[in-house]
Amino acid sequence: MSRHLLSAADLTREDALLVLDTAEEMALVEERTVKKLPTLRGRTVVNLFFEDSTRTRTSFELAAKRLSADVINFSAKGSSVSKGETLKDTALTLEAMGADAIVIRHAWSGAPVNLARWVHGSVVNAGDGTHEHPTQALLDAFTMRRRLGRVEGLKVTIVGDVLHSRVARSNVLLLSTLGADVTLVAPPTLLPVGVESWPAQVSYDLDAVLAKSDVVMMLRVQRERMGAAYFPSQREYARRYGLDVRRASALHDDAVVMHPGPMVRGMEIAPEVADGVRSTIVEQVRNGVSVRMAVLYLLLGGASPAIGGDA
Ligand code: CP
Repeated sequence: MSRHLLSAADLTREDALLVLDTAEEMALVEERTVKKLPTLRGRTVVNLFFEDSTRTRTSFELAAKRLSADVINFSAKGSSVSKGETLKDTALTLEAMGADAIVIRHAWSGAPVNLARWVHGSVVNAGDGTHEHPTQALLDAFTMRRRLGRVEGLKVTIVGDVLHSRVARSNVLLLSTLGADVTLVAPPTLLPVGVESWPAQVSYDLDAVLAKSDVVMMLRVQRERMGAAYFPSQREYARRYGLDVRRASALHDDAVVMHPGPMVRGMEIAPEVADGVRSTIVEQVRNGVSVRMAVLYLLLGGASPAIGGDA
């Protein structure tokens, strides 16, 4: 693997499988009494978050701590960013304190790529604008493989606000690398220009694709990134693109329902479906820790054995 993880496109099939296999090893640590490995002792991981996060920030923090790294959690709120300090100066300041890896979430698409040019350590993209969220795609693939036994050949339907979704972009890239067959379902207003060049099919009719889907991944409608009305009303969106109980009943017996969170219950997905037996939403969060442990380990500590003993 390269020194950074900036895009799902950076991952070859072999890289992606290495992360997923390493994450399986990391998941074994969960079953131990002492859920900690000495692998990154003496290394420092900075979580540099300029946008809000619940799942990604806390799971990167937990992942780094489980590998015995020192962790600095930086939030733009309450920092010298409010005094006009730039991303570059913020990053160089944190690197001067010994950061070996910077995990960055930023509203600017491309912020992690720039950061990787400025610092000597590893950079992990934890979500940049509407661009990418590669560790979300890895944990989604890990969850599919655990539930369904494989990723290759799966029919994965990704539904909703594709236009603003970094999760959709990273998933389309990674899933196509791993041999899945991806269909995007969205209103025409919520599909990006150039989507026909993505390695995915496009449909406007959710009911037409549900029965043949192995995985249905619902996306969050990103109102904070919408400067205009992209659909008539929440009710109309839910009627055409929401996964309600009736629609979920069209899925085959083994099909699973995913959502990266945070979800808008009742609009994107019915509560009964989100909490039902097909749902992997809680597993996705749990798997995120194992996958992020694998990513940090492979970027920072790859030469030493992942599982050697307790810290
Ligand atoms: N899925 C995801 O990125 O969630 P958070 O915004 O809570 O990190």
